[in-house]
Amino acid sequence: HAPVDVDLSALAPGQQIVVVWRANPIFITRRTPESLERLKSPGLQAKLRDPESKILQQPPYAVNWHRSLVPDYGLLVGVCTHLGCVPTYGSGNADPGQRGYACPCHGSKFDLAGRVFAGVPAPYNLPVPPHRMLSATRVRIG
Ligand code: FES
Repeated sequence: HAPVDVDLSALAPGQQIVVVWRANPIFITRRTPESLERLKSPGLQAKLRDPESKILQQPPYAVNWHRSLVPDYGLLVGVCTHLGCVPTYGSGNADPGQRGYACPCHGSKFDLAGRVFAGVPAPYNLPVPPHRMLSATRVRIG
């Protein structure tokens, strides 16, 4: 499988693009300063099933509060860990007033870092694909 290189220079704060890698949708978001603060907040973390990403759903370099290589960009495999539907990105989907993900099939909810909320059918956080920054605005997936 070939890696996929993505130019992030046109991605505005708060925006998401979706690319395909290994036949899976990969969600790439550029995070705002406010959303980064939210990801760190104890109030949010208290609502998550695996806030510290202890279950192996990401490469070792993404075991952190932002679940990515650099906090400004999030990369997630857009496949619900319940039964595989594609979650929807939007404001208030998971966390009132905040961007995140909601699964249209059975209502699982994930925060902007793909961390699953407690009490929904999905058992695990959304996976983080292997990635590395080729430059400040260019990422390689795979
Ligand atoms: Fe997402 Fe069931 S497939 S909640």
